[in-house]
Amino acid sequence: MAEKDTELMKGEIIVKDPSKLRLKPNLQDYNGLRKSFKWADAEKMVDWFPGGKINAAYNVLDRHAKGKNADKLALIYDDGAGTVKKYTFKQLNDEANKFANVLKKLGVKRQDRVFVFLQRTVECYASFLGAIKYGAIASPMFPAFGPDAIKDRLLDSSAVVLVTDPELKKRFYQVKNDLPDLKHLIVVGEDNPPAGELSYSKEMATASKEFETVPMDPEEFMFMLYTSGTTGKPKGVVHAHKGIVQQTLTTRWVLDVHDDDIYWCTADIGWVTGVVYGVLGPWSNGITQIGLGGRFDPETWYKTIQNYKITVWYTAPTAVRMLMAKGDELPAKYDLSSLRALYSVGEPLNPEGVKWALEVFDSKPFHDTWWQTETGSILITNFPEMPIKPGSMGKPLPGVEAAIVDENGDVLPQGEEGSLVLKPGWPSMMRQIWKNPAKYNEYMRNDWYYTGDTAQIDKDGYFWYVGRADDVIKTSGERVGPFEVESALIEHPAVAEAGVIGKPDQLRGNIIKAFIVLTPGHTESDELKVEIQKFVKTRLAGHAYPREIDVVKTLPKTRSGKIMRRLLRARELGLPIGDTSTLED
Ligand code: WTA
Repeated sequence: MAEKDTELMKGEIIVKDPSKLRLKPNLQDYNGLRKSFKWADAEKMVDWFPGGKINAAYNVLDRHAKGKNADKLALIYDDGAGTVKKYTFKQLNDEANKFANVLKKLGVKRQDRVFVFLQRTVECYASFLGAIKYGAIASPMFPAFGPDAIKDRLLDSSAVVLVTDPELKKRFYQVKNDLPDLKHLIVVGEDNPPAGELSYSKEMATASKEFETVPMDPEEFMFMLYTSGTTGKPKGVVHAHKGIVQQTLTTRWVLDVHDDDIYWCTADIGWVTGVVYGVLGPWSNGITQIGLGGRFDPETWYKTIQNYKITVWYTAPTAVRMLMAKGDELPAKYDLSSLRALYSVGEPLNPEGVKWALEVFDSKPFHDTWWQTETGSILITNFPEMPIKPGSMGKPLPGVEAAIVDENGDVLPQGEEGSLVLKPGWPSMMRQIWKNPAKYNEYMRNDWYYTGDTAQIDKDGYFWYVGRADDVIKTSGERVGPFEVESALIEHPAVAEAGVIGKPDQLRGNIIKAFIVLTPGHTESDELKVEIQKFVKTRLAGHAYPREIDVVKTLPKTRSGKIMRRLLRARELGLPIGDTSTLED
């Protein structure tokens, strides 16, 4: 069949010369592996307890702390403001053990929910991994979250412990009274805590460094992460300890880490990329990671690559576009020759970004990787040994079956656009949506897992992203649900109704755009719009506010009263309006 010629599929192929690669990629013979690979092979990459038990954190820390990597650096943490701290695997393991002992002393039960609401600091890593060692379910929260976002998560999960800091705890206190299940508030950097709080440093000072990491059933839960869908509040995506098998494998096969690598994942631990490829995968492979605090700043980023001689770098398209926008003179000032492999995730990576990297980073292209909070690790990617098609997400991991289907689950011919689906059963797949089986079942149709993305496959088996099949917004690579933003908007007294969409944006992929109907007595003004933006920022999250607000007289609704975002989007972008038979009037 001839390759369908679409806008998407143009572009040159980047072919790699194996003799010029600095190191031989860990994955060799992709086509052969697609036929021969069995998950049982990957299970050998991790350590198990007798009786088929496992603990992900044992693989991430203990096995290195007790072995040849004990004195190897696990973490070089640069706070971005001049302070650098270094931790070996042994030291990091000690910290996590102490935290597990703190949980024990507090009487936390197996599989209780322990939330970590911290900036990217060593305490953040230690409490997250300590909770997993202990057998609790760990859950990180993005530091930009406001009180509403925090409440939704702690309430839905009936969280028992919250670890936070003096600045972030203020947001918790605004919703504390709505959270009766939360028993323990542990505050980092608070040496004389007020009543009702525990001091992290004091508790840790008296806790033992010795802790027997708890053997778990592979299906018991390791971590959960709330993420956004089209409807309703964020949902708790729950992952099992067994996921570490695939998280370890993909870090080795895709990110292609080798023992002497200095690896840098730029994602915050509040997002799945930060958890899986900024904590679990690299450390399970015994790799030294850089942690950088502070905000995004092109100069600091280039400096970080130069100073720490970063070899493997995992980042996001918005960051790449922001670096591109700064021009090529800035990177030319730094020695970036340590880089061996570059990766990106979260949104489509424009072919320009892939090619820009070739020029700026000494012939090293970005490798696009595709996955989701729900999939628990990379499933489709441009592997290091393969030619890259700029703009394509690449090919499925051996052991993973991906396809493009229609609504009946029938596989579509090459070149047709349809739903991107996966055959369930890979080890790192989510195990449930917390307390919401109906939501989980929405993903599973016709024996496929529906990703919510649309895509197409080309004649060589490369997958090309087309868009989202639902209303989920990806802004700067971060996932935002329109319903959450609409809910925050209508909490403002001037807003009667709100409809929220993603509007394509050169830099951020999408921006959030809101259409609002004002309550009687309020009139449209720029000041009011700014006030509403600020309101959403402080209640919900710093990144999830509408950058554009239009005041309208009415919003298009279905007869049952649901806002038709599809119509708002079509009008805004001048797209065909489509079927309006369910429209109210
Ligand atoms: C989008 C992030 C295009 C996609 C790890 C997916 C991508 C959603 C890519 C998941 C990519 C992720 N190209 N789109 N390479 N990678 N996406 O849960 O829409 O924050 O469904 O996980 O991001 O976002 P999430």
